Amino acid sequence: MDITPYSAGCGALVAGVQLADLDDKGLEVLRRAYVDHGLLFFREQNLPPEEHLRFARRFGDIVVNKFFKTTDAFPEIAEVRKEKTQEMNIGGGWHTDHSYDDEPAMGSILVARGLPTTGGDTLFANLYAAYEALSPGFQKMLAGLRAVHSNRHLYGEGGYYRQTDLSEQLGGIDRVGDAVHPVVVRHPQSGRNVLYVNPGHTIGIEGWSKEESAALLKFLYKHVDQPQFTCRFHWEPGSIAFWDNRCTWHMAENDYQGQFRLMHRITLKGSALGEAA
Ligand code: SIN
Repeated sequence: MDITPYSAGCGALVAGVQLADLDDKGLEVLRRAYVDHGLLFFREQNLPPEEHLRFARRFGDIVVNKFFKTTDAFPEIAEVRKEKTQEMNIGGGWHTDHSYDDEPAMGSILVARGLPTTGGDTLFANLYAAYEALSPGFQKMLAGLRAVHSNRHLYGEGGYYRQTDLSEQLGGIDRVGDAVHPVVVRHPQSGRNVLYVNPGHTIGIEGWSKEESAALLKFLYKHVDQPQFTCRFHWEPGSIAFWDNRCTWHMAENDYQGQFRLMHRITLKGSALGEAA
């Protein structure tokens, strides 16, 4: 197996392995790479849904997304689907999956199933690198803060997605909720401190006014969204991205209007997140 950095500051490309045939030794190498990089890309994989599930279960338990449709045959696989006639896509802004849960998802494994001929890339950001680039004084100020995360503004009654042509695809209107996590968490596997706020789901800083929260979050979001912390993944048939939701953001480009795109996503169960060390 060959693991090389994908870009200067974000992700790694794993070559020389078929995930469907991964042996236990290979699994250990991948587990290590997942902790070290937080974002792994694979090309030319042959991973039908049964094998996608089998691979995911080797990493942990699966958590089913409350809002997306699942495939008919595999209720643990969510569909990230955009029809030719649809304008809105799923995940079109920077976010990390399930940060609105008390136990946010550990990771997500996204497999390309139907791709547009142009566009439809996914962008990723490395939140370790972004955090480590902040000054020690600023890091210290962030350490005591907690942020509120929610999905109500997206999937609840009158929420953003409910007012778009994505609405018919969504369930879970009665399953919305909020969670509070430290702004800087200690990553459960790596033990490293990492910034844990995201534009999609973080709605404010606990105990701060709306304006104060907005000012801090705006600064942090602009800081993360810089070329040295981000990368772009162009999907090809057989491509897979496997990311750690505790230390990355992602965002699906919506630049392929009139074309179909279908991805299969399995999300892995995580645990409650503790404060920075
Ligand atoms: C997602 O937010 O999980 C979807 C990413 C993508 O479709 O590229």
